[in-house]
Amino acid sequence: MPQRHLIAANWKMNGLKAALPVAEAIADIARNHTSEVVIFPPATLLAPMQKVLEGSPVKLGGQDCHYMDGGAYTGDISAAQLKDAGASMVILGHSERRHGHLEPCELVARKVRTALRAGLTPIICIGETLDQRKAGKTVDILTKQLKDSLPDELEGQEFHVSYEPVWAIGTGMIASDAQICEAIALVRTWLDNRFPAATPKLLYGGSVKPSNAAHVLKLSGVGGALVGGASLTVDEFAPIIAAGD
Ligand code: G3P
Repeated sequence: MPQRHLIAANWKMNGLKAALPVAEAIADIARNHTSEVVIFPPATLLAPMQKVLEGSPVKLGGQDCHYMDGGAYTGDISAAQLKDAGASMVILGHSERRHGHLEPCELVARKVRTALRAGLTPIICIGETLDQRKAGKTVDILTKQLKDSLPDELEGQEFHVSYEPVWAIGTGMIASDAQICEAIALVRTWLDNRFPAATPKLLYGGSVKPSNAAHVLKLSGVGGALVGGASLTVDEFAPIIAAGD
């Protein structure tokens, strides 16, 4: 039985309460398709969105969490607070955190441990920059990110990995089939060696759109998509959910 695709909506810093009907519409659509659908809204919408999604197959996730379980960290959010607000997953190591907040791999690994302790399923993001790709360093970068961001505590736990080439995020420049398949194969080989019993889904993220989603999801080893801009409206996200059938 082939694994269901995981279709994830990373809303990033977009969405006010007026966007809750979008989640409701996504829930109605998800009921008629086979993919597992998860929305990662801004943390301010988690609790109201949990109410909107009650009884629906759509899950909720957080876009990041602090590396500590709690304490004097003004402005931060703990994994336990995400769980308390209705999240079952959390994105960690997104390039907008790695580069935008200078988060080293070791910090991502600490956050993964904290998320697991809180009972959240982490989606750990990796991906190279355009300069790193042009310098022929993609394999080294992806391998280092896997080695240093995925802690031993993932053994026996549910988790997923998302390959998101930084240069494809928000640019409309989706990676080529060869680039996606090479990266996904590298991740799969690394995981088979490091966590042989694990069954993570390997997602692709970076300019996934209604026009390319079905093709990307059929590529060898691709278990889903982590969608940014195209997940903000029903018109764009509905075809991507359907592409996962
Ligand atoms: O986490 C996925 C996101 O970074 C991709 O963004 O807008 O290129 O789909 P986008």
